[in-house]
Amino acid sequence: MVERLKVGTLISGGGTNLQAIIDACNQGRIDAEIVFTGSDVGGVKGLARAKKAGIDTFVVDYARIIADSRKIRDIDSLLPKNFDLDEILGKQRLVDVEKNREKALFFIKSRVIAERRLLDHIESYDMDLLVLAGFMRVLTPYFIDRINTKDKGCRIMNIHPALLPAFPGTDGYGDTFRYGCKIGGCTVHFVDYGEDTGPIIGQKAFEIADGDTLKDVKKKGLKKEWELYPACIQKFAQSR
Ligand code: GRF
Repeated sequence: MVERLKVGTLISGGGTNLQAIIDACNQGRIDAEIVFTGSDVGGVKGLARAKKAGIDTFVVDYARIIADSRKIRDIDSLLPKNFDLDEILGKQRLVDVEKNREKALFFIKSRVIAERRLLDHIESYDMDLLVLAGFMRVLTPYFIDRINTKDKGCRIMNIHPALLPAFPGTDGYGDTFRYGCKIGGCTVHFVDYGEDTGPIIGQKAFEIADGDTLKDVKKKGLKKEWELYPACIQKFAQSR
């Protein structure tokens, strides 16, 4: 028997994609098992879905960490010991450091402080793949490099609610709809140092009819996401 892919998951909300993956694992449609579900927000429905399925959960409260980082006089005292600012600035493609250095540094440092807490949870699990299932935070190279370890071939996957490279950012379906597109879609891709820029693993498209509202577009899109994400995880499991 093939060993099942050990999948870690991160969410921020309702977790319908998480549910689709849980169901695909439980029904043996994919050779995978979920080893944990982490969230950057407490009390969300996705965490309840994970618990119901008997999956370990944890929360790293990003909003609190960012607020605390703003209050403290010396933010550097909160940074992990192995944080190398020049290395991270040289790699990251999330913020424009030239434009507003102070703001950019705060952004990177506060995210790294939160990411270190995520890693403290994640590193206690044996994991082959980290799946972002509606996780609404960007990840810095500090985090990515500690997941994408060369020897194990672990990677991070994300699902985006648009046909990348069109409409990156936080509102893919909204942007697709407002642009007047007649075709919408979703994309699963590997996470790299940019925002929604990594290599594409799979895409699914749907038609947007003249009378469709934004709500219709989101509904059609999510249905496609629930098919696409398990399929991409299976593709990764088979190509290991
Ligand atoms: C999905 O549309 C996903 O593409 C986006 O956020 C939404 C999450 O939905 N990143 P859910 O939490 O999986 O229901």
